Amino acid sequence: MKIAVVALGKIGLPLAVQFADADPSHEVVGVDVNPRVVELVNAGTEPFPGEAHLADKLAQLVPAGRLRATTDYAEAIPGADAVVLVVPLFVDEATGAPDFGWMDEATRSLAAHLTPGTLVSYETTLPVGTTRTRWKPMLEQISGLTEGADFHLVFSPERVLTGRVFADLRRYPKLVGGLSEEGTRRAVEFYEAVLSFDDRDDLPRPNGVWDMGSAEAAEMAKLAETTYRDVNIGLANQFARFADTAGIDVHKVIEACNSQPYSHIHTPGIAVGGHCIPVYPRLYLSTDADATVVRTAREANAAMPEYAVARAESLLGSLDGLRVVVLGASYRGRVKETAFSGVFATVAALRERGAQVLVHDPMYTDAELAGYGWEPYTLGDPVDVAIVQADHPEYATLAATDLPGLRLLLDGRRVTDPARFTGVPRLTIGGGEPLPA
Ligand SMILES: NC(=O)c1ccc[n+]([C@@H]2O[C@H](COP(=O)([O-])OP(=O)(O)OC[C@H]3O[C@@H](n4cnc5c(N)ncnc54)[C@H](O)[C@@H]3O)[C@@H](O)[C@H]2O)c1
Repeated sequence: MKIAVVALGKIGLPLAVQFADADPSHEVVGVDVNPRVVELVNAGTEPFPGEAHLADKLAQLVPAGRLRATTDYAEAIPGADAVVLVVPLFVDEATGAPDFGWMDEATRSLAAHLTPGTLVSYETTLPVGTTRTRWKPMLEQISGLTEGADFHLVFSPERVLTGRVFADLRRYPKLVGGLSEEGTRRAVEFYEAVLSFDDRDDLPRPNGVWDMGSAEAAEMAKLAETTYRDVNIGLANQFARFADTAGIDVHKVIEACNSQPYSHIHTPGIAVGGHCIPVYPRLYLSTDADATVVRTAREANAAMPEYAVARAESLLGSLDGLRVVVLGASYRGRVKETAFSGVFATVAALRERGAQVLVHDPMYTDAELAGYGWEPYTLGDPVDVAIVQADHPEYATLAATDLPGLRLLLDGRRVTDPARFTGVPRLTIGGGEPLPA
């Protein structure tokens, strides 16, 4: 097979490698608009760190001529048996509306070079209906070809986690949904040829490629599995807020609930960040305005940084003029990524109250933190309040002596060790610690 992968990012590049690795007879070409990425891939070097086995596989497949990269769609698309596109989609931070800019551009370039006989599979997470109502007409108009006759279009969401893409590709069923029976059949055949699956006896049907029946069902599956997590965390956060008012430790409650197999309550915390969980519910809401449960959960989660700061304020009376450090710029521990991180809303809520805000993160240099407009904090400098925003493992061993003058620790991730903070008030989200009357 001749296979093209459009966008060699954290998902597209491992996919291209997987397709090339699956069979020595496959010819795989990756297209990316970034010439630096293309250059690195063609040198057999990984353009980003942290993806298990990627460096080894690139070093093997590229010199063997089984995988190459280009910036030129004309080199990759004509005559391809399959084109997999995984260019990112963005969401407007203020309005939550999907921004198709990069994807439209990539689709136009792809369409301009599409030839008869190709299977086109979109893997980027999309609002329900996008494959049929946006990509099909765009591809047809620009290429002059007809979907279902000259080429086939399907949607197949990417469900892997970066860092462990190759393992997840084996572990999770590959969902596909076409616009026609023939398109779906071809997509099932394609993915069966390029993927292998672990046996799993916990699934209702054998692990492998699952036909979802329509592109819309496949689009919805990805949005539903991620929106479920946001809604679940929203519920956990509401339980946590109630527990705080009632003097109950919600973590004990959740542990107890989840000891029975029908309860899967997630962990409450100061924020839900990252590219996926805060974003996909908004893509879902863009086509289902009646989803009040989804909307309310998203609002509940978005309000958590403000809740945490208000809780700190109620213990101290006022934060005006106090030195407050936010521990963790990343959206979660162990990941150097600030996309939709709770740091932004936490810093804003503190600044609104007149606090002098500092930010610390073991994964970022002071210059990087300053680049975001934050004053970097060094452990050992005097500070009045500390708010843990990301569960970096380093914070598990943090002690009051690292934060001289500390009057309050608000641990938004429950990662610190209370024994290391004796004598300093320590609040958590849902810990139910008493506040002064
Ligand atoms: N990152 C994840 O954890 C993850 C997990 C599951 C699914 N996904 C899905 O994968 C999508 C892509 O994510 P990613 O992390 O790989 O993105 P990324 O930011 O790592 O890479 C995107 C790549 O797209 C390239 N690009 C932009 N415009 C292009 C164009 N017109 N033509 C060709 N290439 C172009 C960029 O140069 C870049 O190399 C996401 O939007 C999401 O839907 C991501």
